[in-house]
Amino acid sequence: MSERLTLRQGYFANPDAFQALADLLQDVFGIDITLQNRLGGPDPSSMPFGYFDETGRCIANFSAFAMPLVIEGRVVRAAGFQSGAVRPDYRGRGLYRDLMQRAFAWADAEGFEVGILLTDKPDLYRAFGFQVLPQFRFCGKVPPTTSTGIHSRDLDLANSDDVALVSHILANRQPVSAVFSVQRQSEMFLLNSFFDPEIRLSYLHTFDAVIAWKLEGESLHMLDIAAPRIPLMADICSALGVVVDRVEVCFPTDRLGWVGEARPYAGSCALMIRGLEPSAIKVPLMLSPLADF
Ligand SMILES: CC(C)(COP(=O)(O)OP(=O)(O)OC[C@H]1O[C@@H](n2cnc3c(N)ncnc32)[C@H](O)[C@@H]1OP(=O)(O)O)[C@@H](O)C(=O)NCCC(=O)NCCS
Repeated sequence: MSERLTLRQGYFANPDAFQALADLLQDVFGIDITLQNRLGGPDPSSMPFGYFDETGRCIANFSAFAMPLVIEGRVVRAAGFQSGAVRPDYRGRGLYRDLMQRAFAWADAEGFEVGILLTDKPDLYRAFGFQVLPQFRFCGKVPPTTSTGIHSRDLDLANSDDVALVSHILANRQPVSAVFSVQRQSEMFLLNSFFDPEIRLSYLHTFDAVIAWKLEGESLHMLDIAAPRIPLMADICSALGVVVDRVEVCFPTDRLGWVGEARPYAGSCALMIRGLEPSAIKVPLMLSPLADF
């Protein structure tokens, strides 16, 4: 490892260092995390570990953050891991291994019970005890309309009033599923909605609920719901006024009053977990795409 690199951890209070990480993630993944500054800022629980060169450039990074989960009715203290990248010229020298070791050791010392991450390179993490958690989508028919009195309006995250409304609801949300979901995680919900222009956020005034959804082909994909109490599928579909007759739900549907057929989901990234045997979770699950990190 080059002795000219400096290790920094927990450096988000330093705007130059945060910008240097943003540049690294822009260069490696083509994403702009500075958008978070318009959406309430980065997750305050973030604990980034990074190597910086003499000019202040971020060469390598791996971050941990608190991501409390609900798993089969129990709140589990989980750490999420994200923003793992090394600049091409510095790869193959053990920098990432070093940062992974630091981040996992930090999470262990902090007493996190479970670790969770999403990756297209699962082999990187197996040596640290991570195992793939299979994911399923829930597919079925749109239920008959229950009421004509429920309406929705589209939200726009370019509008600061709408950002404030969504943030307020996220801060007080009921977890979307008691089987498997994030207990709270506002920053990624906002950022993921912002990143994908096809995602629609609809506000159901009657339920003070935000539905994240998109149309794909002939079906409605329900991605997440932020609400003080999760509305029923029939009410949601009535409010959205959808014209398709199929729905695919990207989280367990235990709170929707609706059951779909569980179909294996093979996304570009695997969901991995450590601290909990995948076989200990008996029911099909999926992490909402709005909680992707
Ligand atoms: C993946 C990446 C972070 C590895 O960084 P690196 O500094 O070259 O990794 P290291 O030199 O520390 O290698 C760590 C270990 O991972 C292994 N490894 C490296 N790249 C790998 C890959 N693409 N798939 C599987 N294992 C890999 C190495 O062989 C090494 O294993 P070893 O210690 O048992 O020999 C880097 O290639 C990168 O930034 N890639 C693009 C972004 C990315 O994919 N990030 C990970 C997102 S989950």
